Amino acid sequence: MRLVFLGPPGAGKGTVAAVLKDRLGIPHISTGDLFRDAVSRKTDLGREVEGILARGELVPDELTVALVRERLKAPDAGNGYILDGFPRTIAQAEALEAFSPPEKVVNFVIDDEEVVKRLSGRRVCPSTGRVYHVIYNPPKVEGKDDETGEDLVIRPDDRPEAIRHRLEVYRTQTAPLITYYGKKSRLVDIPADRSIEEVVHLVEQAVRGL
Ligand code: AP5
Repeated sequence: MRLVFLGPPGAGKGTVAAVLKDRLGIPHISTGDLFRDAVSRKTDLGREVEGILARGELVPDELTVALVRERLKAPDAGNGYILDGFPRTIAQAEALEAFSPPEKVVNFVIDDEEVVKRLSGRRVCPSTGRVYHVIYNPPKVEGKDDETGEDLVIRPDDRPEAIRHRLEVYRTQTAPLITYYGKKSRLVDIPADRSIEEVVHLVEQAVRGL
């Protein structure tokens, strides 16, 4: 099953993918996570993209497409994937069509006000990438990861000015993909402003039977 999760920053794509990857038996591949991992390991790629991520801009298409193309060659992607945060431009979508066209594109529909609430309360575990929210999805112990006990952190791109910029980038560069995949009849809209359990259920219903 080849799935793309599309939607604005903070729509809940990563949260839903983290639950469904095991139920569907396919890997959750988040380009944001791949870039953040490169930044934390201080690789050449990490040094190149660190500032871009912090400002909330997009990494150049060639770099991003090459990263995904390579990742999809791994054995765990043999039965499909959940791509979270890729494609994000028409050029990326065209590239994906050429090497692994998605069967369904789940469009997380949510308004800006809710996005800002979600991103400003988001906390993440720097080593595992596990995602929490101070109100909607709090850790068992405040400020600590449930499994490792590490201190949770705020992502650099969750600062208010970066959030505003990411929403603008989404509108201009990524939202055109809604029409792109709609014309290919692969798009399914999901109301993403419900509880985590409800959104997981709706997405699972929409993709089962593929
Ligand atoms: P990326 O990591 O992909 O960021 P994003 O798309 O902005 O998505 P987020 O991770 O912010 O949100 P999400 O939808 O996964 O929400 P989450 O589940 O965490 O990309 C980061 C950067 O990398 C980009 O800005 C760019 O620089 C670069 N990049 C990545 N891909 C690229 C590409 N293809 N091309 C070029 N550059 C690229 O949830 C958010 C919060 O809400 C959490 O706190 C969560 O607990 C909470 N929450 C989730 N669901 C619910 C719910 N239903 N109810 C209440 N709270 C909820």
